[in-house]
Amino acid sequence: MNTQAEPKSFEFDTEAEALVTAAIAHYPMGKQASAVMPLLDIAQRQMARHTGSAWVPRVAMDVIAKRLGMAPIRVYEVATFYLMYNTKPVGKYHLQVCTTTPCWLRGSDDVVAACKSQAGISEFGETSANGLFTMSEVECLGACVNAPILQINDDYFEDMDGVRTEVLLGDLKAGGALPPAGSTAGRSGSAPATGLTALLPTTEPAE
Ligand code: FES
Repeated sequence: MNTQAEPKSFEFDTEAEALVTAAIAHYPMGKQASAVMPLLDIAQRQMARHTGSAWVPRVAMDVIAKRLGMAPIRVYEVATFYLMYNTKPVGKYHLQVCTTTPCWLRGSDDVVAACKSQAGISEFGETSANGLFTMSEVECLGACVNAPILQINDDYFEDMDGVRTEVLLGDLKAGGALPPAGSTAGRSGSAPATGLTALLPTTEPAE
């Protein structure tokens, strides 16, 4: 676990505290440990609000362990097992490139190359010098039908290619906001790129 930027202390702020209370209330008495995943997520989002970097420092895990009556090691185990928790600081835009077979067959190498060139980073796990981008390699994001997928923070950008990745990251570097998530090739959901081939509107009068 990287402790480089580890803050000295952590406490949930008012906004997070309301979410923590609601998350714990979902579980019966004695089973509060089940709230460990939502509490890690709430802590990570609070860090993003306060510092611009969405990650969970160890002191936050310790606060969660105490709150849920768990041994700290059990919280560390969860936080380090799931990729959605960052245990070290990440850039403002966390570029999570899926390189599993369907995305790879559809050109994820081009997406990776475009991320590297636009962000100015050379390998997965690196953060750009300006703190704007971190690039991570991830396994199947469950959206293979619109491969290749580039997840940025919470959003999926689908049907990516090298050029569209360069344009998207170029806009972010210029201070633009994230565009709407979804297909970047103009597809409607997961419909064929050439338009619907089934469930077409019928012109026949109803009997
Ligand atoms: S392989 Fe990339 S989303 Fe499934």
